Amino acid sequence: MTDTLITKKLSIVVAVSSNNAIGKGNELLWYLSADLKHFKNITTGHTIIMGRKTYESIGKPLPNRRSIVITHNKDYKIEGAEVVHSLNDALDLLGENEEGFIIGGAQIYNQVLPFCNKIYLTTVHHHFDADAFFPEIDRKVWKETEKAEHKADERNEFDYTFSTLEKM
Ligand SMILES: NC(=O)c1ccc[n+]([C@@H]2O[C@H](COP(=O)([O-])OP(=O)(O)OC[C@H]3O[C@@H](n4cnc5c(N)ncnc54)[C@H](OP(=O)(O)O)[C@@H]3O)[C@@H](O)[C@H]2O)c1
Repeated sequence: MTDTLITKKLSIVVAVSSNNAIGKGNELLWYLSADLKHFKNITTGHTIIMGRKTYESIGKPLPNRRSIVITHNKDYKIEGAEVVHSLNDALDLLGENEEGFIIGGAQIYNQVLPFCNKIYLTTVHHHFDADAFFPEIDRKVWKETEKAEHKADERNEFDYTFSTLEKM
């Protein structure tokens, strides 16, 4: 598996809470209008790769993006998305120098984090009860290269920070 993984340009896009939570009951934990826009800006026009559960929590292929969904289920079919049965198969669909955007969820993040070069990280400054978590980010390995802090407002219930982390 690792051969393809280490040769690809992979970026994670994720929103985590202060306690590393990313979801519960196969849903997101918050509604932050600014983060949805941020996600759209980062991923539009690109290839997004996700696990089957994340796909089902979104419910449809996102517009103006190429969607690749990973499942073990050989009968799984989605109109408007490509379905594959391993991470390697997903990465094989990427163009030679194409940046692939890994959009979750926990199972997929856990498998790809060691092979990613960049994390587009949204931190939501609140603790949540959750059943899906992002793996611990080793700050000795990952350096923050961009950071923008934002206060809660009428469209965003919690304080949040957009950052970019790059592997040193
Ligand atoms: N906050 C965020 O930024 C964010 C982003 C994305 C998702 N989420 C949240 O994360 C949660 C979902 O995460 P999750 O870990 O439960 O599920 P997931 O990673 O989205 O999907 C897991 C599924 O992917 C398939 N899969 C995983 N690894 C595979 C492999 N190596 N080969 C083939 N298939 C593989 C399996 O599908 P089959 O069972 O069909 O075989 C597995 O059940 C939800 O709560 C969602 O809202 C949060």
